[in-house]
Amino acid sequence: MAAPQPFKAHPDIERVLLDESQIKARVQELAREISRDYAGRCLTLVGILKGSVVFLGELMRQLSVDCTVDFMCLSSYEGGGSTGVVRVLLDLRENAEGRDILVVEDIVDTGLTLHYLLDNLRTRGPRSLEVCALLDKPDCRKTQVKAKYVGFRIPNQFVVGYGLDYNEKYRNLPYVAVLKAGAIGGK
Ligand code: IMP
Repeated sequence: MAAPQPFKAHPDIERVLLDESQIKARVQELAREISRDYAGRCLTLVGILKGSVVFLGELMRQLSVDCTVDFMCLSSYEGGGSTGVVRVLLDLRENAEGRDILVVEDIVDTGLTLHYLLDNLRTRGPRSLEVCALLDKPDCRKTQVKAKYVGFRIPNQFVVGYGLDYNEKYRNLPYVAVLKAGAIGGK
């Protein structure tokens, strides 16, 4: 068997903020908490594309409650800053009425996307509506919105990996990291 290779981050990475084992352990804890809170119910996980896919995949594997999964894709228009104007690019396939909905997000930053999404989902009459976010940047909030389940609170820094992208790149990195300044602005 080949000897294990020393860890080597992607060359565009400045610093790893959360490594693979830290994330794995925290996702397990979140799954245990969620499974306890929803015991005996059937949970509808709503993954927000595309950033949540890695987190959602790992989280749902660890859940011990019954669950179904659905997806939404939202786009926010940002002409010189986040305006909070959000468009639904892909909607749920299932009816949300009477369901226990858990929105699964990669990160809550300004909170504007989540604020819009929760208002939108509330009109559909779910039995319950909560949010689970892998990352939270509380210092960036522009609106009052709160995730019940949060993996990690992080400072105001742009991060990539574990589903999060920069120009659609780096989603596949198994850790959450800060990019080198030189990698920002390039393609
Ligand atoms: P918000 O509406 O400002 O809370 O933005 C939420 C969305 O912006 C997230 O679901 C991400 O897709 C994206 N986003 C916010 N911060 C970051 C980051 O640090 N890295 C990558 N994407 C981010």
